[in-house]
Amino acid sequence: MRWGINLTHPAHWQVFRAITGFHQQRSFNQLDHLSVADWVADDFPRGLYDLYFLPFAKSSLNAPDAMSAGELMQFFHFYFFGNPEGLAFNGTKQDMGTSLVQPIAEAIRAKGGTIITHANVSAITCSNDRICKLSYQSDATAETIPFWVTQNSAIPATTSQTFFGAGDRVFAVTQDEAISLTCTHQGCTVQPQASGEFHCPCHGAVFDAQGRVVRAPTKRDLPRYRINQRSQDRVQLASIAPSQTATQTIEADYYVFAPDVPGVQQLFDRMEGANVEVRSQISKLVVADPFAVCRFWFDSDFDWEHSNFASLSGYKLTDSITLYHRIQDQFIEWSKRTGGSVVELHAYCYKEKDFPTQQDLLTTFEQELYEIVPSLQQATLLHRELVNQKNFSGYPPGSYVDRPETTTAMSNLRFAGDWVKMPFPSGLMERAVSSGLLAANSILHQEGLQRRSLFTVKPEGLLQI
Ligand code: FES
Repeated sequence: MRWGINLTHPAHWQVFRAITGFHQQRSFNQLDHLSVADWVADDFPRGLYDLYFLPFAKSSLNAPDAMSAGELMQFFHFYFFGNPEGLAFNGTKQDMGTSLVQPIAEAIRAKGGTIITHANVSAITCSNDRICKLSYQSDATAETIPFWVTQNSAIPATTSQTFFGAGDRVFAVTQDEAISLTCTHQGCTVQPQASGEFHCPCHGAVFDAQGRVVRAPTKRDLPRYRINQRSQDRVQLASIAPSQTATQTIEADYYVFAPDVPGVQQLFDRMEGANVEVRSQISKLVVADPFAVCRFWFDSDFDWEHSNFASLSGYKLTDSITLYHRIQDQFIEWSKRTGGSVVELHAYCYKEKDFPTQQDLLTTFEQELYEIVPSLQQATLLHRELVNQKNFSGYPPGSYVDRPETTTAMSNLRFAGDWVKMPFPSGLMERAVSSGLLAANSILHQEGLQRRSLFTVKPEGLLQI
């Protein structure tokens, strides 16, 4: 009742049945062809939408107009009807690298494993639906291996430049070459000026029209690229800096690909002899609208009676606020020493046409922060950092049927990640982790070894009508 459900409306009954009677196959069959926005367009309980469905859809980093209603039902079941912990979260006391990534890396090394980072895969060779070998170069920052980027129509072209890429990975492309617009200080996107210069909105770096540093804080020029090929709305670029390292090769019994969607698509671009069906599944994956995260450092603290992480609704950009100086050790310690505060705002899936530049994002985040915490208007803003990317998995209507699973038609290739179709309901991070465990289990099984138990939420809803 509090959600605005009125069971005398037949349409509300349908919604009630959908949320309480989740069934993996049936729910996707009934709802995957619809976007969340279309599903709720007519007679729909508004309270349920405003309080739960809208923040829920957005916290999956997918906008309601671009997200399958079947996927939303799966998340809803996972958190509210299948999971005794509901929406209770544990947070890490240090940053994710220190708390999660480093301990896993240490455990792998302690078992004799080798971790290779900053590598760029140059070729993957297949035969008879098996991967035979994978070649890579270990200087990924040079980007000497050609890669494709898609035109960005939200940034208007000038007389000499067209813009490709998205988020914090944008390139200005002229007739002859391309310049990366990712600032070499801390990665914000620099803005082209009428004078031909590029200005960084974050800490004031300036570069000339060739990408050479004119004003600090950075000391490194913007990287330049040659144009290898052009197709309809894409260009293929490669760094003009020569590669410093030789190509190396891995020949493994099994390969588990667990990158994000753009990453797995780049791997298939560089694969020779891939299974046609698997290649087609990978090419159909899509990325969601971009997300942005802005962290602010202030010289004073403020009163706050809500949770230290709180979802918000009704702002143009902001979807949540986190008070880092109350939850993570390094910021708690900094706050005690200085009296300051560290606050982060998230925008999970904004529309590029509404915020075409990072300056627009920074300005709106700052205005909305002062609306959310008015007393911060009296504080001094010491520093801010913006992360803005377009690489999160999309779950558009109709995508369920072709979504790749953990095992593939290629006998020694497995997939893991939040874009993988799962045999049980799963959230996003939970899907990334449990698809990795499923991939490991299938290798163990193929080797005749014992598999490990996996725990899931209750797989089906209470009311199977
Ligand atoms: S000056 Fe560009 S990110 Fe700092």
